[in-house]
Amino acid sequence: MRSLIDIPDFSVAELDELIACANDIIRNPDAYRDACRGKKLATMFFEPSTRTRLSFEAAMLELGGSVIGFSDPETSSAAKGESVADTARVVSCYADIIAMRHPREGAPYVASQSATIPVINAGDGGHAHPTQTLGDLLTIHREKGRLDHLTVGFCGDLKYGRTVHSLIAALSRYEGIKIVLISPEELKLPDYVKLDVLEKCSMPYTETASLEEAMPGLDILYMTRIQRERFTDPEEYERLKDSYILTQKKMELAKADMSVMHPLPRVNEISVKVDSDPRACYFRQAKNGKFMRMALILKLLEEAKINPEREKPEGELLVNEIQCRNPRCISACEQELDHVFKVTDQAGGVCRCLYCESKEMIQERKN
Ligand code: NCD
Repeated sequence: MRSLIDIPDFSVAELDELIACANDIIRNPDAYRDACRGKKLATMFFEPSTRTRLSFEAAMLELGGSVIGFSDPETSSAAKGESVADTARVVSCYADIIAMRHPREGAPYVASQSATIPVINAGDGGHAHPTQTLGDLLTIHREKGRLDHLTVGFCGDLKYGRTVHSLIAALSRYEGIKIVLISPEELKLPDYVKLDVLEKCSMPYTETASLEEAMPGLDILYMTRIQRERFTDPEEYERLKDSYILTQKKMELAKADMSVMHPLPRVNEISVKVDSDPRACYFRQAKNGKFMRMALILKLLEEAKINPEREKPEGELLVNEIQCRNPRCISACEQELDHVFKVTDQAGGVCRCLYCESKEMIQERKN
């Protein structure tokens, strides 16, 4: 049984297969109307969402299946103190597949280790958002006709923007991608993406604080909102919230065929006047997300039928030898959860939290 916790869980061939399936669904929707008849999707949303939850629901309904779930944690047993693992195990009794969003990083992974049905990460804290990435990949493919040899600019909150982290991880697997990181100093891309993805794959990247400077060279501009809810200091948010605003005037600096993407919701970082520019593709992107979620649900249900065994983490693990120091990690609030680190670079002495990927040095282990 497979779950989707982050993009590296799928090979490039599998991503291509999902894109082909989504394109087929777009061409022949009637052929898929009964594909999930009798199957149930459970949406477990512990954090606000409009498009992700509704697009999962629409995806399952368009496949002929049905949907149960909650979108307000206050109405679930989490409010009584139930652990993520228990909730996921219980929901497995009532549904065939779970889509889960949670403010704690690594929570969907924990759910996948106790659920007896596939779990899809629909966004965990500031960590990852792989199904947004699936929709983003389909959008790039449909707008540009390819997923390679592109210069992609990411602008805004690159620190907390989980969609950025997952999309960079996906693009790092394609040839000839150049990345331009556009952010204020305080909101730069976290190390686990910069070092473990960009540098590990020798992916060319540059960093700048100026959108105007970066614009002319871009094939794609991926705008993001400043993630107010993840700031610990409200004053810092106030200072940074208007860092970038894409206007019609700035669009004049861009290539005639540059695509503007945004995972949405937008706050004020793209002027509504840009919406009528044919290069603005964020509403098409939102629609593409539904088709990729349909393709994903089909794939995971099919794989669960063939192999109902849960996938186990591979490689060397350190169990309860190092404590994760990320305050947003699921292990910081669930007392009975083991602290598990995976050795990612034995020679360099580096290991990463299995849930949130925070880095620690192996020498930190308790003796
Ligand atoms: C994104 C998210 O939730 O991370 N939204 C979405 O799923 N479409 C982006 C955001 O909230 O800024």
